[in-house]
Amino acid sequence: MMRRYAGVRSHTLALTQPLSAEDQQVQSMPDVSPTKWHLAHVSWFFETFLLAPALPGYAPFHELYGFLFNSYYEAVGPRWSRPERGLLSRPSLDEVLAYRRHVDDAMARLIATVPADRWPDLEPLLELGLHHEQQHQELILMDIKHVLSLSPLSPAYTPPASVEAHPAETAAVQWLLFDGGLAEIGHDGAGFAFDNEGPRHRVWLEPFQLASRLSTCGEYLAFVQDGGYSRPELWLSEGWATVRREGWRLPFYWREDPDSEKGAGGLSLFTLHGERPIDPAEPVAHLSFYEADAFARWSGRRLPTEAEWEVAAAKAVSSVSGPAFHPRPAAPISGLQQTSGELWQWTASAYGPYPRYRPAEGAIGEYNGKFMSGQMVLRGGCVATPAGHARPTYRNFFPPAARWAFSGVRLADDA
Ligand SMILES: [Fe+2]
Repeated sequence: MMRRYAGVRSHTLALTQPLSAEDQQVQSMPDVSPTKWHLAHVSWFFETFLLAPALPGYAPFHELYGFLFNSYYEAVGPRWSRPERGLLSRPSLDEVLAYRRHVDDAMARLIATVPADRWPDLEPLLELGLHHEQQHQELILMDIKHVLSLSPLSPAYTPPASVEAHPAETAAVQWLLFDGGLAEIGHDGAGFAFDNEGPRHRVWLEPFQLASRLSTCGEYLAFVQDGGYSRPELWLSEGWATVRREGWRLPFYWREDPDSEKGAGGLSLFTLHGERPIDPAEPVAHLSFYEADAFARWSGRRLPTEAEWEVAAAKAVSSVSGPAFHPRPAAPISGLQQTSGELWQWTASAYGPYPRYRPAEGAIGEYNGKFMSGQMVLRGGCVATPAGHARPTYRNFFPPAARWAFSGVRLADDA
């Protein structure tokens, strides 16, 4: 267990290696947290839920860090305001790294000395702390992408690993048919899952079809060029109000540059590798739920429900290729692909409790349960999701207007 703990913790630090201390300080919008805050907050989680209650004689690193780095746990106490995390120039990055080492040393002592009769209580919390830190590994990449995108220098987080081959043509969509009937979804209790993934339960499905791959930039560009952002009949009412209020005309991170020769439609996009031409074959990314829904309507299709998505994905051959920082075009193969490892996929399902769901007692019960209103479910996993973190039952969720996550669209239809 110590090896696993050390592996997750060191991967977090590895993600920050391309970043300067200045990069790690910036909060570019209320939803984005500074990298430095993420580094401290994940350490606070271990300190609060494991070290303070279970390691005899544990002394917190600093008496106010609980106030600074508690994210949203009301039962734990008051906290610094989320939109003002970027104002915390102190503690410095060096002090936050010292805080991490303090927590790591204490966690090593805890894991080495915990009495056997306490392990059954602590092990699930340690497991939760590691999966929590992996969620923040993804958030670090999501958030720094937004931070860097605001610089006129369009800095790259990291250069591409190799020269990427652009396929000559986009792999055609196949429409895969799935039977209706009684099905089961949700986590069955074997291995780790977040509480919101269970209990496993029965659902009734009408026959449906699912696109074999994610929708592409080229397909989305056709929606844009057909006036997609100026036709209210394609949009949900709240979506249309958001388009008007925010002045949306393109996906997040797409850029118009009429003066230079760029990719499709004179457009480029910002990536973790810096700005580059749009590749019509790659999956369209950073859509809100409203945009995914409007695009589906324009396409004459719809978004899948989360139950449809899960039943289909549970049968898919895993399509995860190696790590990347930007979604890759679909392969010219048959069958369901890109179910994880490229982009989270919006579903038509509102985020709510499964039948017989009960949050845990105490502060840990605030982890997922209290967010079950006003958000939509995304399924899959993305390029920023750490290896081994996602599952077919995994329920990600964001407000319908959110666009800074690595979110895309897979179309569905009735059959
Ligand atoms: Fe957190």
